[in-house]
Amino acid sequence: MPAEGGSGSPISDGLFVQSWWLVLPVIMLLVAAAFIVAFVLLLYMISPLISPKALKLNGAHVVVTGGSSGIGKCIAMECYRQGAFITLVARDEEKLLHAKKEVEKCAINNKQVVLCISVDVSSDYSQVENVIKQAQEKLGPVDMLVNCAGTSISGKFEDVQVDRFKRLMEVNYLGSVYPTRAVITTMKERRMGRIIFVSSQAGQIGLFGYTPYSPSKFALRGLAESLQMEIKPYNIYVTVAFPPDTDTPGLAEENKTKPLETRLISETAGVCQPQHVAKIVVRDAVQGNFLSSVGPDGYMLSALTCGMSPVTSITEGLQQIVTMGLFRTIALFYLGSFDSIVRRCMIQREQRAADKHE
Ligand SMILES: NC(=O)c1ccc[n+]([C@@H]2O[C@H](COP(=O)([O-])OP(=O)(O)OC[C@H]3O[C@@H](n4cnc5c(N)ncnc54)[C@H](OP(=O)(O)O)[C@@H]3O)[C@@H](O)[C@H]2O)c1
Repeated sequence: MPAEGGSGSPISDGLFVQSWWLVLPVIMLLVAAAFIVAFVLLLYMISPLISPKALKLNGAHVVVTGGSSGIGKCIAMECYRQGAFITLVARDEEKLLHAKKEVEKCAINNKQVVLCISVDVSSDYSQVENVIKQAQEKLGPVDMLVNCAGTSISGKFEDVQVDRFKRLMEVNYLGSVYPTRAVITTMKERRMGRIIFVSSQAGQIGLFGYTPYSPSKFALRGLAESLQMEIKPYNIYVTVAFPPDTDTPGLAEENKTKPLETRLISETAGVCQPQHVAKIVVRDAVQGNFLSSVGPDGYMLSALTCGMSPVTSITEGLQQIVTMGLFRTIALFYLGSFDSIVRRCMIQREQRAADKHE
């Protein structure tokens, strides 16, 4: 018989103690999960507080290289719509004047000015430095530099003329180094500014047919990362944009020599409109985001290839940590399908060659 006031038999007491020990780890796990969720929520809440202050484009001087056509022209129009003063830089004067008229249609006040400068951004640094000086004398110090001048060529490695490899590095890489070098001292003195490098999704992954183009766009990423570390204490923020295929005269030109494999791989993603790309690039640059991508594919590629790139908000860093494994899994499927496209094209080509011989 149990003692008066007792809590139960020794057997049921033993069972209670045993089940308590079983439940304890579950409780600890729940408490830990609650702490993690609370911590993540806190980071999300304070994230905007440590992000760069947005740049006001109204009244700012924006220089756009490659501003006479395609993505560059649309970026200029987008900035003009937000009240900026614009310097368009490209070689062909006629195209520049035509673009100037289109940009002027986007004015939001009658003080805004569009200046045109004809120069090859890739050939001679002192020329580039001179024209940037002229632009600064007319429209004030540069607040935002958009390095968009670029060209592309596609073809199989052995089919591309050897001098094209050099030319693409000159235009796409040095053509971004020179204008940046020409504005950086003033930006550092003023402790403000934005620098945009327009790379490409082909600057994140190497694809069939892009052996001359991809390295010139990968190089921009290296430049951007190094430069960002140097100039961040001066409140200057770098944005690297990775647009997908975009409907521009540049893409139409590239399509003329595109190998079948490159075309089939490109077709797995769509073609964007330059106005849409421009809006995203300008938004990211104004906010001071380091990586700028377009659409779900672009987002996935940027998260996958973020490596040691700077983050501009805690939110961005957390998203990269959480999504990396899943995105790598998806990427492996993409890589497999690209490899199979390349293999199929090779087999078909060899079959056709064999049929001809017979
Ligand atoms: N379109 C796409 O699918 C795509 C995708 C990803 C990335 N991108 C990149 O986005 C940028 C713009 O491409 P887009 O398709 O808009 O090209 P686009 O329509 O051909 O325009 C290129 C612009 O760059 C200028 N330019 C070219 N070489 C120059 C040089 N040496 N010096 C000064 N200006 C020069 C051109 O004017 P002049 O010829 O008169 O000099 C033109 O204003 C490029 O860097 C490209 O690699 C494009």
